[in-house]
Amino acid sequence: MFFDDEEEFETDGDDRLIKSTKGEYDYEENVLRPKTLEAYVGQSKVKENLKVYMSAAKARGEVLEHVLLYGAPGLGKTTLAHIISSEMGGNLKLTSAPAIERSGDLAAILTNLNEGDVLFIDEIHRLNHSVEEILYSAMEDYALDIIVGKGPSARNIRFSLKKFTLIGATTRAGMIANPLRDRFGILCRLEMYTPDELKEIVIRSAKTLGIAIDEAAAAEIARRSRGTPRIANRLLKRVRDFSTINGNSTVTVDDAKFALGKMEIDDLGLDEVDRSLLRAMIEKFDGKPVGLETLAATINEDAGTIEDVYEPYLLQLGFIARTPRGRVILRGGYEHLGYTMNEKQREQVSMFDKD
Ligand SMILES: Nc1ncnc2c1ncn2[C@@H]1O[C@H](COP(=O)(O)OP(=O)(O)O)[C@@H](O)[C@H]1O
Ligand SMILES: [Mg+2]
Repeated sequence: MFFDDEEEFETDGDDRLIKSTKGEYDYEENVLRPKTLEAYVGQSKVKENLKVYMSAAKARGEVLEHVLLYGAPGLGKTTLAHIISSEMGGNLKLTSAPAIERSGDLAAILTNLNEGDVLFIDEIHRLNHSVEEILYSAMEDYALDIIVGKGPSARNIRFSLKKFTLIGATTRAGMIANPLRDRFGILCRLEMYTPDELKEIVIRSAKTLGIAIDEAAAAEIARRSRGTPRIANRLLKRVRDFSTINGNSTVTVDDAKFALGKMEIDDLGLDEVDRSLLRAMIEKFDGKPVGLETLAATINEDAGTIEDVYEPYLLQLGFIARTPRGRVILRGGYEHLGYTMNEKQREQVSMFDKD
């Protein structure tokens, strides 16, 4: 039900570069995780606040309050959970909401926790209702409420639990019910990383993996990593492959450009899925607002994947916008693909584009 090694429960998997994959990556992903808050690049606001909360809890001899981490895939939620538990000195138990099928499963996990342990529940927005209800009293009172018997003789028995910290991670903060969200004392929103931060991560990962790389090559990879450390690490490894085949012992900026070109990752880090999404918005929907499901069906991609993986970066770039009537493409999206807007499209864009 819970695993000490994430390999077992990574749920998003195929062999695309931008999405998560199984196998090689998951093992190396663990190797590449920074182990301390100091080594964790970027996210300065989150780090500063966490440092205060953790020191204060330690000074009072209390366990850390429950933490909700939210942000796009690959921004460092799982890594941060590892760091928090090791800094607080408890054991870390990793699980994910889809793996907890029945409330009894969660009850078993909870009763096995020791004081100060950290329970990490990934994709916490996917908990089913009966499981989530067990969590309420566990989070609030460190208690487990179980109903024994049926009908008029049913009674509620309360077991006490050891004081623990729950860390929930989600890509969809909006999908968490209020009663659950309210029980987290600490909310941390992870932001996309700047190219400079990603460059630092690429250089650090190269060192860990024993890859020699030029600074300019690291910068090139960073610039095309969609603000996401996981993608930066993946691109680094693929670029290294091309470099090796070309007989180079050090990864140069030309190697990086060549490899990224072969992978059809453009100057801004967009891949073929991003481009076909933008293209569909222009060609099939003529720049008018389009619903997520319709768009997904048109480009034959999963709606959830578009929402979690593709959309955040396109939104960040200002290439698309979410409106009450659906997704719309903005000026930057047209320009990036080299389209000239017609009159109607320009009118459409001016309704949503801020500049
Ligand atoms: N702040 C960071 N500094 C350095 N590397 C990071 C950072 N955040 C994430 N990474 C790297 O990115 C990879 C993915 O991070 P992870 O914590 O698994 O993301 P998430 O759980 O949010 O999907 C990890 O292997 C880690 O090496
Ligand atoms: Mg994760």
